[in-house]
Formats: sequence, C-alpha cells, structure tokens
Amino acid sequence: MDLFEYQARDLFAKHDVPVLAGEVIETSEAAREVTERLGGRAVVKAQVKTGGRGKAGGVKLASDPADAVEKAGQILGMDIKGHTVHKVMLAQTADIQEEYYVSFLLDRTNRTFLAMASVEGGVEIEEVAATKPEALAKIPVDAIEGVTEAKAREIAEAAKFPAELVDQISNVLIKLWDVFVKEDALLVEVNPLVKTAEGKVIALDGKVSLDANADFRQPEHEALEDKAAANPLEAAAKAKNLNYVKLDGQVGIIGNGAGLVMSTLDVVAYAGEAHSNVKPANFLDIGGGASAEVMANGLEIILGDPDVKSVFVNVFGGITACDAVANGIVQALELLKSKGEDVSKPLVVRLDGNNAELGRKILTDAAHPLVQQVDTMDGAADKAAELAAK
Ligand SMILES: Nc1ncnc2c1ncn2[C@@H]1O[C@H](COP(=O)(O)OP(=O)(O)OP(=O)(O)O)[C@@H](O)[C@H]1O
Ligand SMILES: [Mg+2]
Repeated sequence: MDLFEYQARDLFAKHDVPVLAGEVIETSEAAREVTERLGGRAVVKAQVKTGGRGKAGGVKLASDPADAVEKAGQILGMDIKGHTVHKVMLAQTADIQEEYYVSFLLDRTNRTFLAMASVEGGVEIEEVAATKPEALAKIPVDAIEGVTEAKAREIAEAAKFPAELVDQISNVLIKLWDVFVKEDALLVEVNPLVKTAEGKVIALDGKVSLDANADFRQPEHEALEDKAAANPLEAAAKAKNLNYVKLDGQVGIIGNGAGLVMSTLDVVAYAGEAHSNVKPANFLDIGGGASAEVMANGLEIILGDPDVKSVFVNVFGGITACDAVANGIVQALELLKSKGEDVSKPLVVRLDGNNAELGRKILTDAAHPLVQQVDTMDGAADKAAELAAK
C-alpha cells in the first residue's frame, strides 16, 4: 500500500526523522487558520499518490493566509496524472540551500535491501538516475545487521555528502531504517532531503510503501487505507478473504488457484476475438476451498459487477473435489436468490479433475436454467464469450 505524503510525514515524525510541521485540509477556506498556526506562510502541496506533483503545479508557496486559501483553491480538484486532488497538505516553509535524495528499498533481484543516496536530489532525481548513474550511490543493507552507525556513514560517504553534514545525515538514515523495519515498509524515500540556511537537515517530501503481507502485525496500518479510492467490489472481496481483480471486459471469471485463473484470462481473451472482441471483466480466485459459502461470496461479487454479461466458472478439482464445487454452485445460486440478489446472467461451468464426473452429474440433475456445462476449457471460454457478446 502506497501512502500519501502527509501519512509518510506522520510515520517519519513517529520515528524521529526530522520533518516540518504540517496539516492536511480538504477545503480551501481551512487554509487560512492552518497557515496562521504555521507562522503565516506555508507550502501548499497536493496529496496524490503519484510523482511529479511540483512540475504539475501541485506544490505552491503561499506568502500569507489569504494567499494560502487561494493556492489551496487552485490545487484542490486539480487532476495530476489521472489523480484528482481531494486533500492538500500545508507545510511550514524551509529556507532551502541544498536538495538531496535518500531511500531504502527491497532489492528483489539481489535478494537484499538497498540504500540509495545522492547529493543531486530534488524533482530531477529520475533524470539523474538515468543519465548520471554514478551520482546515485547504491549500498546493499544486510537484513540482520541493518543500518548501524558505521553503515549510515558508509552510505553518506559513498554519496559524497559534505563532511559537516555526515553526522546529521547518518542520524536521518538510522531513523529512516527504523521506519523501514518497524513499519514493515517496502520503500521509504525522501526527496528532497534538504539542508536549510541554518545548516539543518530535514525531510521535506516522503514516499512510503507498506508491505500488506505484514498487515496482521501492523494493526495501525488499517487506518492508513484510502477507503474512498478503493473499488467497492474489491473491498468486499478483501473483507471475505477472496482475491478479486477488476478488469475492463465483459466475462466474469471464477477459478481455483492463481495459475488456472491466469490461463483462463488468456483463453477467454483469445476466444473473445471471435465474439465482438469481448474480454475478461474481472477475475476471482476462490483458492483451495470451494464450499457453497465461498462460491456464493464469489458469485455475489462477480455478479455485482455491472460490466459482467456472462460468467465462466473454471475449476480443476484437486484437494477440493468437483462434486463439492458443483454442490457449492447449486447452493450458491439458491442462496443468492433467497437474498433477493439479481441472478440473471448466464453461467458457463467447466469441471475437470478430481470427481469431475460426479460434479457434472450434480449440475446436470439440478438443471438450473442459467447454468450450462462445457467439458473443455477452450470450449467453455468460447461459450462464455459468445454469451457475453449477445
Ligand atoms: N516545506 C517546503 N518548504 C520549501 N520548499 C518546499 C517545501 N516542500 C517542497 N518544497 C519545494 O518544492 C519542491 C517539490 O516538492 P516535493 O518534493 O514535495 O514534490 P514533488 O517532488 O514535485 O512531488 P513528487 O515527490 O510527487 O514528485 C521541492 O523539491 C522543494 O524545492
Ligand atoms: Mg519530491
């Protein structure tokens, strides 16, 4: 999960990384009071989860409270790379002398963690990384040892930070590593890390990405989720522990296991070429368990997507046998009907593997008017695409 800058700033402050005071607002008028509290001047910053805010006009200096109201009004509602600005952060202004860059991230290729640092920070860091890679120091960080005082100095020196700042920068690196480890982050980035006219080192902009696999031991992270931005069906699926992903076609897909679901997407997209180019509308992996309840939850979510015109249930029975899946489908359709849900979209079911014969018989006997069976994956994909194109 990526965080907004103001959330990253809060985490930095929690772990004693030096930051400037700031507050988040959602209406321009609120900028007046906040700017007064911040000392009469403020930087007004768009809070969107994308880079390049400054270049897009989403970071503006306000010289007094009235100016802050005006600038906040300009930035709120702005579109930055497809993200609408709903919140702005007002931050204390810094008298910047130099802009640097530091980050920690998971380096999957080298199976380690990596520190990156540069004295050429600021809005052009991507450019620096691409054209002057020698200006961006990259130092591996051992997961067990972490960032010790000596490691922090090694990073600061590799990046050629001025000698008189090495103490302060090392301190920032150690604290940032605390953020990285204690918050279970995959990325912690500060750009710019600045040196002010008074010679102080401060993190002015932060980017943090948290590892969702660690949510179980980070109860406080749930509050950081941007509920307003989440797709309601994805949220409903997550609440029921199902893996659901929204796509932009017309065929809803339910399968068991990630590999089968991925190849189902491919065969549906291929079959769709012959039927007005229909494509997968979404997919849902019911995993190993395909009880009536899991199936009902899955179908409810897939059928709740208004883009879905037909559903392809593709199951290869393994530990979960096909008869259990077939019973799940029959019971799920009853359950949804009794709940008053709209079950009017055709379902194409392909069962194979463990107890396939028995599973197919259960569906044949139930003779549900919306359910059709096709024995092969390609044939079923073609049928589902044909129904969706109608
Ligand atoms: N509190 C501040 N005081 C003074 N100047 C600031 C402050 N915050 C940001 N700036 C200036 O604005 C520039 C851009 O700000 P910031 O880094 O937050 O946004 P950005 O880099 O454009 O956004 P992104 O990180 O999304 O690409 C900074 O490099 C810095 O020069
Ligand atoms: Mg920045």
